Amino acid sequence: MVLSEKGARFELLEPDTQTKLLLSVSPCKNDTVKILVDELRPLKARYRVPDVMTGEPQCEQLRVVRQSQHSITLSWSSGCHQVCVWHFPFRLEILCEEEVVVTFNSKGKLWFETLQDPPRVTPPGRELEEDDTSFLWKETFRQFEDVKANCPSSIGSDFCLHGFSHVFGLPEHADSLQLKDTRDGEPYRLYNLDVFAYELHSRLGLYGSVPLLVAHKPERTLGLFWLNASETFVNVYYRPSDHQNDQTPRVKRRRTQPQTDVRWLSESGVIDCTVLLGPTPQQLFSQYAQLTGYQALPPLFSLGYHQCRWNYDDEADVKAVDAGFDHHDIPYDVIWLDIEHTEGKRYFTWDSALFPDPAGLQRHLEKKRRKLVVISDPHIKVDPDWLLYCEARDGGHFVKNREGQIYRGSCWPGESSYLDFSSPDTRAWYSRCFGLEKYKGSTPSLFVWNDMNEPSVFDGPEKTMPKDAVHYGGLAHREVHNLYGFHQHMATFEGLITRSGGSQRPFVLSRSFFAGSQRFGAVWTGDNAASWDYLKISIPMLLSLSVAGIAFCGADVGGFVQDPEPELLIRWYQAAALQPFFRGHSAKMTKRREPWLFGEEVTAAIRSVIEERYCLLPYWYTLFHHSHTCGLPPLRPLWVEFPREQNTFSVDNQYMIGRALLACPVTEPKVKEIQVLLPGSAEVWFDIHSAEGFKGGRTLSLPVTMDTVPVFQRGGSVVCRSTGSGSCTADVQWMPLSITVALNSQGAADGELYLDDGHSFSYRDRKAFCLRRFNMLSGRLLCRPASEEGTYECETVVQSVSILGLKSKPSSVVVHVSGAGDTRAAFQYTESCSTLTVNDLDLRVTTDWDIQIG
Ligand code: NOJ
Repeated sequence: MVLSEKGARFELLEPDTQTKLLLSVSPCKNDTVKILVDELRPLKARYRVPDVMTGEPQCEQLRVVRQSQHSITLSWSSGCHQVCVWHFPFRLEILCEEEVVVTFNSKGKLWFETLQDPPRVTPPGRELEEDDTSFLWKETFRQFEDVKANCPSSIGSDFCLHGFSHVFGLPEHADSLQLKDTRDGEPYRLYNLDVFAYELHSRLGLYGSVPLLVAHKPERTLGLFWLNASETFVNVYYRPSDHQNDQTPRVKRRRTQPQTDVRWLSESGVIDCTVLLGPTPQQLFSQYAQLTGYQALPPLFSLGYHQCRWNYDDEADVKAVDAGFDHHDIPYDVIWLDIEHTEGKRYFTWDSALFPDPAGLQRHLEKKRRKLVVISDPHIKVDPDWLLYCEARDGGHFVKNREGQIYRGSCWPGESSYLDFSSPDTRAWYSRCFGLEKYKGSTPSLFVWNDMNEPSVFDGPEKTMPKDAVHYGGLAHREVHNLYGFHQHMATFEGLITRSGGSQRPFVLSRSFFAGSQRFGAVWTGDNAASWDYLKISIPMLLSLSVAGIAFCGADVGGFVQDPEPELLIRWYQAAALQPFFRGHSAKMTKRREPWLFGEEVTAAIRSVIEERYCLLPYWYTLFHHSHTCGLPPLRPLWVEFPREQNTFSVDNQYMIGRALLACPVTEPKVKEIQVLLPGSAEVWFDIHSAEGFKGGRTLSLPVTMDTVPVFQRGGSVVCRSTGSGSCTADVQWMPLSITVALNSQGAADGELYLDDGHSFSYRDRKAFCLRRFNMLSGRLLCRPASEEGTYECETVVQSVSILGLKSKPSSVVVHVSGAGDTRAAFQYTESCSTLTVNDLDLRVTTDWDIQIG
């Protein structure tokens, strides 16, 4: 063993194959431990995933605390964590407060195929020699042949998670939030693929992959981050504690705790796994964000409603849909153009007959402070008469095939080549394509949608690129497959920043993603269908993404394929208005479904939830600020907020929006009543519509009508809303606020509000933001700075305050404004729901003030 400032290094020897490996263990400052296993002397460097980690983690200095013939125990900083390495058989334990929480190689499944010299080719007509391994270097799948230039080089290992019986994460799968035991079925597969109308409850790969598995038990949340971008399989085996399944007599039985075994297997690369030790869910999210980056702070407009369709036909169509929203008084912010807006699916161009004046169209929308999003896919039509194609070809920006020629596959434009986003030069070139000068017809109010970036290749194996295609630096596609969309998203994001001279926040939606994609914008769950089951699965899918750091996520409202019945459409709007990315989208072959096409009742129902979404934007924006600065996702499984309540651990039809709101969207047809779990026996919950209070620690039977959207505010929280919804987010931005204070059983409550200009980087570069705290204690509500750092001055005022759960009618309400003295305020008290309301306050949110309830 060698100790250095980078951790401890050990040589491992596999006795059967005599394979020599190098194990490095590095504990880092933020309570994470990195385990790296590589060949001791590989024939050539094995691939290590670049660009995902945001910096070199700062290592802690290790010291030896115990050593024996069989093991060595190391510790660092405060000494509450330890690593114990057992020599034979090899295993590595991570201990917290002397208790083993994770064991690496507990079942001895460490697997490492070493690189080999090229095989001797058996001359034609001769028998295969005994040691000829050339057959291992080739694989066939249907009509496709995959040649492994570096020989089979898979790696894998197993972990035991002690005391855990719930694990989550590993998006993207159309499956439950809690990962299932894979004993009787397929492992979870992480391999980015374009799967139209994907099968539900399947563990096959979908559009994106985040190799983060999160385990949770009452005392600890823990993460395993397996940094590998090649095809990966993960098996999960739950093992309940002995006393649940052991038949041996009681006296003989040693009660053991439950555990979960997790096995990872990747096609290539090295073993690079970081164990995140939590122990709280909040600390875990922060540790993960420190490794792979924080959610980009979305421009405010992108948290509004988006209207998309494949396709809005022409300029007149776009203008008519835009006018339709005004006509029907429905707020919205963005209209989207799919592939048909281009000249023959050549991205960065416009069909000149359908969109003769794209810049004029954007100005038309911009006058109403609305935006246009256009699609930009990674495949480029093979067309030697098209400048962009020629530039990409001549600049060496395309992926090659194994013979070294430019790779060609089929996609929307027909024969296409694929940009090689793994190359920094290609990314820089692609970023420049978004320059306003270069992208003719674009203006600063145009934003971008990256689709088909798994990548989708219609005539490729599993509809994607062959694994032996060749990238920048001679890399096989198999090594970088799951990074393809990530790198396109990155280049587009940077292109939009550069376009604005570094001043404006971009908005980019991507279908494919990897760990770290949260730094570049939003993702959505691809081609779902208009059925109740897809509506239902959208909740666990979005929760899994959120747990894995991808906080700005959504599903196509209404279902992309097929036509939703009006009831389903309404329920979908109701659910999606309470999810981070909110976009209606529909496929080419479906009927039009703008919100006003189904009669006044449906229009009114949709209008009402979109309006509520706009009113709640101050809260959403504040949650995104927290996500951007602390890594906490806005959408949270219940266990994140109630880590000790076992009955919340596998709930995935309900979720928390931040720490204050609990949502339980209706996802079944014709229901008259739903069951809502209100966690925490010491909690109080308030129905946000009726203000009625309910004690927690119970399942509530709630009668529902078509208008009911079950949302409860948690006692002890403060939620800020806008007093109106306007016609777009720009209207909402300066509107007066109304504040809802929900008291807990001690009569206290707390919450924050974040404000900035909504679109630039001034919040970061000039600290032009304002973070305020509302705190209620002993009958007094205080508005104070939550951070002294911000310098943002704005005129926004608090118009009204409602206090829920106030047991008796007060005799007076006195408002004290710093530097201006006291005034008595008029108020209403509604006894039936114990609510106090104070209107017409007009208190600037950036000044300090108190409201004393007497
Ligand atoms: C597939 C995407 O998932 C879908 O949203 C889009 O409309 C079509 N491609 C056409 O671009």
